[in-house]
Amino acid sequence: MDKSKPPRAALMVHAGAWDMPAEEREAHRQACAAALDVGWRRLAAGGSALDAVEQAIVTLEDDPAVNAGQGSVLTREGWVELDAGIMDGVTLEIGAVIGLRTAQNPIRVARSLLGADHVLLSGAAAEAAVRSGGHATLPPEAFVTERVRERLRAWQAAAATRRPGAAPADTVGAVAVDALGRIAAGLSTGGACGKPSGRVGDAPIPHCGYFADTRLAGVAVTGWGESILRLGLARRAAELARENGAQDAAWLAIRELEDRVGGRGGLILVARDGSMGWAFNTPVMALGYRDAEMAGPVVRV
Ligand code: GLY
Repeated sequence: MDKSKPPRAALMVHAGAWDMPAEEREAHRQACAAALDVGWRRLAAGGSALDAVEQAIVTLEDDPAVNAGQGSVLTREGWVELDAGIMDGVTLEIGAVIGLRTAQNPIRVARSLLGADHVLLSGAAAEAAVRSGGHATLPPEAFVTERVRERLRAWQAAAATRRPGAAPADTVGAVAVDALGRIAAGLSTGGACGKPSGRVGDAPIPHCGYFADTRLAGVAVTGWGESILRLGLARRAAELARENGAQDAAWLAIRELEDRVGGRGGLILVARDGSMGWAFNTPVMALGYRDAEMAGPVVRV
């Protein structure tokens, strides 16, 4: 980074990378636009990168059109198990939760664990963090909408012919660098549609689904979690950004995902100087970005 220049604030969001049906794309575009707007206003008002990432992801979690929070896909048993994680690139602290069943905004619970004694919680400990933190909850049945029931039915109908990884395991995510050069990254997801209860993907796992280090970059991933876990994709992409531009690092990382482990997914990346990159090898990815030098946001699906 050129030390004579102040860092350039930037924010990227995504709402998943998968074979998204045409009729769902506009809703995903709108979800990204809303999250970018909320997060950017936070950054523009002097908020931290962590604040912007949390607020952008809360906005996505509250949107029933995307696979996180209220729009989460169902386990094969027919309920939700929600995962989220967030990382502070200044302190390298992380907070993450696995398998929440009633939290309205898992990313808020994850953030509340930054700097805690225990930072990656599942099961009873994760639910206790929801209660002790006074986080908003919804009744379990509130998540079981006709949209996600239909998605589970379609997943079950195709089960016999599907190869591993073909089931969408999309995520929502955000990465930001603020005017002080602080970087943060986070993810939230309902995970893979039709997953067995207890299955964990990349979204709550630091260095796999998300990574932030002010010396390198911030990254938020989406896609088939089992392959992303094998490669440690978010950390790998951030390391690639050290020697390559943000955009090349994003492409190289996704190429490694495909070549090394046959994975499918996408990622967004903000380098320490505020430059941005994104890449995916799925048919579609929903994402948006904005920085302090752009006249306005860009959102694409
Ligand atoms: N990428 C989200 C998951 O695999 O659970």
